[in-house]
Amino acid sequence: MKKIYVFTSTGNSLHLARILARELEECEILSIPRLMEESEWTIDGDAAGFIFPCYYGTVPQIVSRFIRGAADITGRKFFAMISAGRSTGLAMEHLRELLEERGKSLHYGRSLTMVSNYMNGWYYSAVMPARKKISRLQDQADRTVSAAAADILAGKNSVDRGSRGNYLLPRILSPGRYVEDTRPWDSEFSISGNCTGCGNCARACPVDNIRLQDGRPEFSGNCQRCMGCIQFCPSSAIQIQGKVMNKRKYVHRDITLKDLTAFHRGEASG
Ligand SMILES: Cc1cc2nc3c(=O)[nH]c(=O)nc-3n(C[C@H](O)[C@H](O)[C@H](O)COP(=O)(O)O)c2cc1C
Ligand code: SF4
Ligand code: SF4
Repeated sequence: MKKIYVFTSTGNSLHLARILARELEECEILSIPRLMEESEWTIDGDAAGFIFPCYYGTVPQIVSRFIRGAADITGRKFFAMISAGRSTGLAMEHLRELLEERGKSLHYGRSLTMVSNYMNGWYYSAVMPARKKISRLQDQADRTVSAAAADILAGKNSVDRGSRGNYLLPRILSPGRYVEDTRPWDSEFSISGNCTGCGNCARACPVDNIRLQDGRPEFSGNCQRCMGCIQFCPSSAIQIQGKVMNKRKYVHRDITLKDLTAFHRGEASG
């Protein structure tokens, strides 16, 4: 059995995992945060894959902790698909290093340009593509994953190279936003009077960091800064440092909030 370990907030990674799993056959898709709720987890499978977004030109913290903290990593072959709004920077290189720390090699890795969900970026609206272009990027990503599935089945070894310039760029564009531990970051969040208590934010959170208390969201200090709650809030009621996030929203066209909630809760991945 092959296994794909996924972290996602707006569905790009879940969608890519679904295509890959279908084409690889006998392949299970698992949620990284869900597995980490257990006191101990392992990474295994005849072939083990990682699919996740690039954060600040590198690997999201939760994915690093998942690999570093695994009780055991077994399996012969390791592959990865990393998506980004623009460029995955050094995320692939850093993933390779994380696996090497655990005595494993990354055999196959593809970087994909999709759409940025980083709504906190001051440049977010300026770089958000037109709807037709979003569709083209998603089609292109689908083709890349199908080709990757054929490569993986054929046992091909090939890992995309990273880019130091595109690793530095997000740190220059968002100075101070990269921190060692993102978990207390939700202390910067506040809820405006527009909140209707719909609960979408809690359903969208991949790490179960939001609870509704008397119809208002409360955060628990385990934030991955994934933007899921903000992207899925229909009233733009979640503010960061008092900034209103009433920008155009993004979520992968083939993934619904229901899909994501089920996935985050460890139910069928579809
Ligand atoms: C905290 C954060 C940091 C991000 N950093 C980058 C980045 O450095 N470069 C980039 O091109 N996209 C960046 N993005 C955009 C995501 O990588 C991109 O939207 C990804 O495809 C989302 O995948 P998902 O839908 O599976 O969550 C960032 C997004 C977030 C939330
Ligand atoms: S998604 Fe927005 S409106 Fe709905 S409960 Fe959360 S903050 Fe309130
Ligand atoms: S609280 Fe919001 S930004 Fe933080 S992990 Fe949950 S969904 Fe993501």
